[in-house]
Amino acid sequence: TSAKKIKISQGANFRDQRVKISGWVHRLRSQKDLTFIVLRDGTGYLQVVLSGKLTTTYDALTLTTESTVEIQGQLKAVPEGKTAPGGHELVADYWKCLGKAPGGDEAYTNVVAETADPNSLADRRHLVIRGETASAVLKVRSEVLKAFRAEYDHIGMTEVTPPCMVQTQVEGGSTLFSFDYYGQPAYLTQSSQLYLETCLPSLGDVFCVQESFRAEKSHTRRHLSEYTHLEGELAFISFDDLLEHLEQLICGTLSRVLEDPKTKALLDQLNPNFKMPSRPFRRMDYKEAIQWLNDHDIPNEDGQPHKIGDDIAEAAERKMTDELNVPIFLCRFPREIKSFYMKRTEGDEEFTDSVDVLMPGVGEIVGGSMRMADQHELLEAYKNEGIDAAPYFWYTDQRKYGTCEHGGYGLGVERFLAWLTNRWTVREASLYPRWTGRCTP
Ligand code: 4AD
Ligand code: MG
Repeated sequence: TSAKKIKISQGANFRDQRVKISGWVHRLRSQKDLTFIVLRDGTGYLQVVLSGKLTTTYDALTLTTESTVEIQGQLKAVPEGKTAPGGHELVADYWKCLGKAPGGDEAYTNVVAETADPNSLADRRHLVIRGETASAVLKVRSEVLKAFRAEYDHIGMTEVTPPCMVQTQVEGGSTLFSFDYYGQPAYLTQSSQLYLETCLPSLGDVFCVQESFRAEKSHTRRHLSEYTHLEGELAFISFDDLLEHLEQLICGTLSRVLEDPKTKALLDQLNPNFKMPSRPFRRMDYKEAIQWLNDHDIPNEDGQPHKIGDDIAEAAERKMTDELNVPIFLCRFPREIKSFYMKRTEGDEEFTDSVDVLMPGVGEIVGGSMRMADQHELLEAYKNEGIDAAPYFWYTDQRKYGTCEHGGYGLGVERFLAWLTNRWTVREASLYPRWTGRCTP
């Protein structure tokens, strides 16, 4: 009988039928006259049994992991007491090798051995992503992006795609990547926020999933030079509305991700201790955090007790978040250490209606704020920051032509994933991470 060509994930619908499946040899084991292959095709894993003559050909005797093969045979439920992915195995009656992978020193298992130094593993990221852990993280990433979009759709926000090549800064000049744009200076975008703000009068509440670029001098496990930035902007809201929205977005997205049994299984594998955060999230003002850090003898970057006005450095922030061990809304940072566009807190003008969301193990995963709604206040803010207002004419116009109270945020997708999947570094949540000095593969 002719075999139906299927993907591994469709197996359950084809029990006791003859199928044809192509994929990569993930694992290989021979015993007497049987050869067991764990086949991988990106949709799942499947145990394949070769027996008799199928195991004695030249190709069978020289088969290596990562070789590509086509296999035909019957999909049989595995006998009780035996386990196999999906609960069935493919009993082959025909197979061929499509592309042989090297053995010996160049064998896959040798070139991506976990003992290899991190730098050479980074050079071999294109091979590392074939592994069970790396591919599980990338699958979860895909599901997370899908869930964010579903949640936005549910809330009623519209997706836009702002440009990556820009002539304005958002988060300070020191982390800008610049390049020559037909003889004019231009930058790779740090954040799509300013563009999202201009969309409010056109499309209402909007979001985007766009790459952002930061020439970070800091070489840490949570800084990338290019990262995926999920940003949202909402009109006619209060600061409290912004916090509520963030909580709903994060929890709504997580529920969607966990609802899917396949993704749940991947998460159980990557982060067995994951617990859905309880609502409401803990809210803490910057001033309280400074007090908390001093009460716990956690010094600032100069090794001194924290003072109001200090930046809370990554290490201190992480210590506090790990100790409290819950998501935190850290609110109302000093104007001096935050971005020029942030709305001042009413009655406490040296502070801003700003928020960072902190997660255990990672620290900051979201930065957001209310925005200055007043045109003249914004013009002053450019001056204070030493920014030439001219290239920002379109951003200023947003206040001129019918301003409104509005606010938004950016969420680092790799940081969110590092938290969710319990990865040591955000690099593991990026397909091909870029960081200081690395732009390959
Ligand atoms: O806190 P940030 O710099 O805020 C903004 O860019 C705002 N304009 C966003 C907005 O309001 N629309 O960045 C937002 C988030 C951070 O919380 C962090 O999760 C992530 O982006 N992020 C990085 N992730 C990886 N590598 C880096 N170098 C990152 N810099 C920021
Ligand atoms: Mg920030």
